[in-house]
Amino acid sequence: MKKILFVASECVPFIKTGGLADVVGSLPKYFDREEFDVRVMIPKYTCIPQKYKDQMRYLTNFYMNYRYRDCYVGLFEMEYQGAHFYFIDNEEYFSGFGPYTDMYFDLQKFAFFSKAVLSALPVLDFKPDIVHCHDWQTGLIPVHLHDRFQANPFFWNTKTIMTIHNLKFQGVWDIKTIQSFSELTDYYFTSDKLEAYKNGNMLKGGIVYADKVTTVSRSYAEEIKTAYYGEGLDGLIRAKSNNLVGIVNGIDYEDYDPATDDRIFCPYNSENFRKNKGKNKIGLQRELGLEENPKAFMIGVVSRLTDQKGFDLIQCVMDEICEPDVQLVVLGTGENAYENMFRHYAWKYQGRVSANIFYSEELSHKIYAACDAFLMPSRFEPCGLSQLMALRYGTIPIVRETGGLRDTVEAYNQYEHTGTGFSFANYNAHEMLGIIRYAKSVYYEKKREWNRIVERAMEADFSWNASAKQYEELYKYM
Ligand code: ADP
Ligand code: GLC
Repeated sequence: MKKILFVASECVPFIKTGGLADVVGSLPKYFDREEFDVRVMIPKYTCIPQKYKDQMRYLTNFYMNYRYRDCYVGLFEMEYQGAHFYFIDNEEYFSGFGPYTDMYFDLQKFAFFSKAVLSALPVLDFKPDIVHCHDWQTGLIPVHLHDRFQANPFFWNTKTIMTIHNLKFQGVWDIKTIQSFSELTDYYFTSDKLEAYKNGNMLKGGIVYADKVTTVSRSYAEEIKTAYYGEGLDGLIRAKSNNLVGIVNGIDYEDYDPATDDRIFCPYNSENFRKNKGKNKIGLQRELGLEENPKAFMIGVVSRLTDQKGFDLIQCVMDEICEPDVQLVVLGTGENAYENMFRHYAWKYQGRVSANIFYSEELSHKIYAACDAFLMPSRFEPCGLSQLMALRYGTIPIVRETGGLRDTVEAYNQYEHTGTGFSFANYNAHEMLGIIRYAKSVYYEKKREWNRIVERAMEADFSWNASAKQYEELYKYM
């Protein structure tokens, strides 16, 4: 039996700001239990909903020396849907309204967390064969394992994987600061280790010292070897390419199932969607105060409102998108400029545009179920889960061909009657507009064709089964 420990800064259902949480919370359920014991460790944020905190079991605590102080480390655990979760408690670091505060504090918070994770393992007597680290917040773990924790025989056979969910975020500050937070010696701050462009870089440490590096789609694994997508680390990624694999994400097919989802207005499946999916549109139009019209072409957006997701393209042609035969429903939070842009257009096109500038799991499900199309014109996209959720709900993705979007959405081909969505290649607002209009024309003028796209989308398989197998293969040979 191989023992694996996932370490991350977020995880559903406890704490989520994006797709990372979905992956960390759902993937562990899909491993073969006979062969793999996969557990997850995250901080015990005070903002985790009380109902989950009530179910956590206190295990023990110890004091860890961190930056010349003895710091409290509490350990809690919980079983949830058959998976085993550990929580690291320290209210000095893990309080606040969300998992992240400001970058400077976050660097210290996750440096503390990374050291606490490794210090906790001998105490818990859980000896993982592989520590599977996710994103920059856990980048110091492979470095520490190579450094001070080598002194303990407990860790002599421990291997590490660093999974990059988003290369844009690297955990960077000046060397002095990163050195002080990580407690690493000067030795580590050279250009072949944690130094990058005269700064300290925690993700770089993880990539350099991990035994394997993975990312969340095949295309992104290739893209990050180039300067355009490499975020300054493309040279390192190229150097590591023998130990780099891209494994596409899946989604939780139990949580995201239009046939059983109790958050949507009317359940449906790939056989009865023609009759029942539309009821979700009417329900949502009523709830959001949009014109009640079952025929209107409804486009959905559920996203962090950031440049990564292509909102500058949308901004550029917003008036052209919002033609009288279109309804647009947005759910998201992020950059002020985009939040205000959607608020403005909801006012300008009342009854046709709905701007929901907040976070709501429930509304997101209703949007995935109600809309006809789902717009995601990302500048870059390591994998993207929203388009997979949309596919599962028969809501046709309109995406830019990049990263995981390229790998998961097959462009509609009107001659061969294939494809599950619509896509465009260049990061160009009018190219996007052209493809939105093309999708709209298929919707209005070739309803049968449209419905066949919906059917194919709903039947495509993006459950975790196939990808969990690829992770298993990786674990086996480490
Ligand atoms: P990223 O991780 O880059 O934000 P993904 O597509 O991988 O992008 O994952 C985004 C996840 O966050 C999806 O589960 C999506 O439904 C969810 N999400 C994003 N914004 C919101 C919001 N405002 N309310 C509810 N869910 C949201
Ligand atoms: C990141 C990426 C997103 C990916 C998610 C989960 O947030 O931006 O593309 O789906 O991680 O891997």
